[in-house]
Amino acid sequence: MDEPNKALRLQGLTKFYGSQRGIEDLTLDVRPGEVFGFLGPNGAGKTTTIRMILGLIHPTRGRGEVLGLDIVKDSVRLRAQVGYLPGDLALYDRMQGKDLLEFVGRMRGGVPATAYEQLAERMQLDLDRRIKDLSRGNRQKVGVVAAFMHSPRLLVLDEPTSGLDPVVQQEFQRLVRETVDAGATVFLSSHVLAEVEEMADRVGIVVSGRLAVVDTVDTLRERAARKIELDFPAAPPDLTGAPGVQRVDVRGATATCWLTGPAGSLLKLAVDHGVVDIHTHEPDLEDAFLGYVTGEDS
Ligand SMILES: Nc1ncnc2c1ncn2[C@@H]1O[C@H](COP(=O)(O)OP(=O)(O)OP(=O)(O)O)[C@@H](O)[C@H]1O
Ligand SMILES: [Mg+2]
Repeated sequence: MDEPNKALRLQGLTKFYGSQRGIEDLTLDVRPGEVFGFLGPNGAGKTTTIRMILGLIHPTRGRGEVLGLDIVKDSVRLRAQVGYLPGDLALYDRMQGKDLLEFVGRMRGGVPATAYEQLAERMQLDLDRRIKDLSRGNRQKVGVVAAFMHSPRLLVLDEPTSGLDPVVQQEFQRLVRETVDAGATVFLSSHVLAEVEEMADRVGIVVSGRLAVVDTVDTLRERAARKIELDFPAAPPDLTGAPGVQRVDVRGATATCWLTGPAGSLLKLAVDHGVVDIHTHEPDLEDAFLGYVTGEDS
């Protein structure tokens, strides 16, 4: 089969649950070999999108292709080629981890035990325990192993690190990087902005069922307002009118300003009012995210 030039191609993808909007008019391409971060606040439509990508629910309108396969017509074939970690992981409780993974592996046409054993070791997961006796984070690890163990060409991960401790999260990030270096594509939703910033090449931010922006992490960071804290001897002057200032928070004698563009005018105004100290913070993805999410209309 020819390698499609898009790992994922969504066109006007829309899902309504009755009158409740899940996601609306989502058009998005993901390139092979890319890590794409899908961000948005609770209820924005991330899981809805992911379920449509897997063909688990069908769009109200629009269409999508995954690895060249139609998400409605070819959903069975498509699921065989994708590693999927659902956000609401439900597992067969009575089984031991290793039996469950062997079972899932057999459904995928056979996965050698060494594949899931090695992954379990990396994730510090004990495969001899019954699923129902595992903590939430350890169950999540079973899901991670199940998603990666057959070396799929595309991984679709819905909040993969939820419940994982920081050490395991780091290991998970290394795993994603290695998987992508080996040629796979990763589409992941997350609330952990620092992690997306670390892993993703590009990011899409969904707000209230609509895609607000798609860009590289670097560009989003550059465009985000940077934060400048100004300490005054007493109540700060009104800084809201200074060029480039997007927002000002005042607490006691400190004014925190969010600024885009050059800082000259703001700093001059601050100096004229006797500013005693200045702290600047480089913007990160969180600043970009908050910039899109605040001002949301619902
Ligand atoms: N089965 C369903 N029936 C009715 N409404 C639903 C259903 N599933 C999701 N929704 C609604 O669709 C919208 C999008 O939900 P979705 O689960 O896709 O959001 P999300 O971005 O994954 O949120 P979270 O970050 O909380 O996981 C929400 O308003 C939600 O209430
Ligand atoms: Mg969700």
